[in-house]
Amino acid sequence: MYKSVIRPILFLFDPEKVHHFSFALIKVISKIGLLGLLKPIFTIEDQRLEREVFGVKFKNPVGLAAGFDKNAVLYNELSDFGFGFVEIGTLTPKPQDGNPKKRLFRLKADSAIINRMGFNNLGVFEAVERLKKEHKVLIGGNIGKNKITPNDDAIKDYLICFDALFDYVDYFVVNVSSPNTPGLRELQDKEPLTRLLRELEVANIKLAAEKEVKRKPILLKIAPDLTNDQLLDIIDIVADTKIDGVIATNTTIERKNLKSHGLLLEEAGGLSGKPLKHRSTEVIQFLSERSNKAFPIIGVGGIHSPEDALEKLNAGADLIQLWTGFIYEGPILVKKINRAILEENYR
Ligand SMILES: Cc1cc2nc3c(=O)[nH]c(=O)nc-3n(C[C@H](O)[C@H](O)[C@H](O)COP(=O)(O)O)c2cc1C
Repeated sequence: MYKSVIRPILFLFDPEKVHHFSFALIKVISKIGLLGLLKPIFTIEDQRLEREVFGVKFKNPVGLAAGFDKNAVLYNELSDFGFGFVEIGTLTPKPQDGNPKKRLFRLKADSAIINRMGFNNLGVFEAVERLKKEHKVLIGGNIGKNKITPNDDAIKDYLICFDALFDYVDYFVVNVSSPNTPGLRELQDKEPLTRLLRELEVANIKLAAEKEVKRKPILLKIAPDLTNDQLLDIIDIVADTKIDGVIATNTTIERKNLKSHGLLLEEAGGLSGKPLKHRSTEVIQFLSERSNKAFPIIGVGGIHSPEDALEKLNAGADLIQLWTGFIYEGPILVKKINRAILEENYR
């Protein structure tokens, strides 16, 4: 029904407008009680799907990746589609518009998306207001820096977001891997990254002591375009800074082996969806093997089927996330993946 009727209609319109329209629609069907009625279609409740990763108990290992609910407006409603966790953000200290439109493109022939949104968001403090309501689902807080903040001052931006979100999220993600904020990915270099993560951990310990609560898990989200040497650096950095894990991967700037053609291929931005699947799995496998499974990994990139999800888990991911596959395959994908995990593990 989604792929044969709903998707062809939605795909007639501008992708960013469809995103906003879908949010409004989901809010309405939730308010009138319809989403609650539909929930059993999308969810599987089964203790065997529960996972404890970096000290957090997940009801299932399938999450919604960052960038979908950037401003934390829909996390409870989105949990009704069966996700075990929802990652909000990327949030920056100040609100910012992001790049000029159009900035989101469907590559239908490849089941892919190119985006150059550029961290459009309403700012971390607005998100905090929304996060004050009850959470029906675990929330990850993905944080970044404002475009106007020079890299030398980037730590301040991450600290502002960390501090603001501390009481409201279950884990943090340090995003230094978006291709759409100029210079951001330079923060993945060993020296600035180590400094950033160390300072965040200092703040973490301090806030936890002040509030007499546990420190929050901190994960690092990396690009798929890192070389093997850079990935080895990441393994060292995780060990040095004692952060809790890695999210692999963000979108890619590569444009290899695409079926789409013409001007679409010239659009700048990060590519997600099916063409990213192989590289993202490679990165997960490399990190898992070379580190001897030293830290948890959330696997994301091109998961469009239960088989894709199992491939990520078999490569070493402890949890997985979806974005583009959720759009192309529809919400039922979450349940299909959870069912496949049950079948694979408990045959
Ligand atoms: C339109 C769009 C916006 C995104 N925004 C963010 C973001 O703000 N922060 C982030 O860490 N990742 C962001 N991502 C990357 C996704 O979280 C994910 O890492 C990537 O799309 C690969 O997964 P996929 O192939 O399932 O889409 C975005 C992706 C898309 C398609």
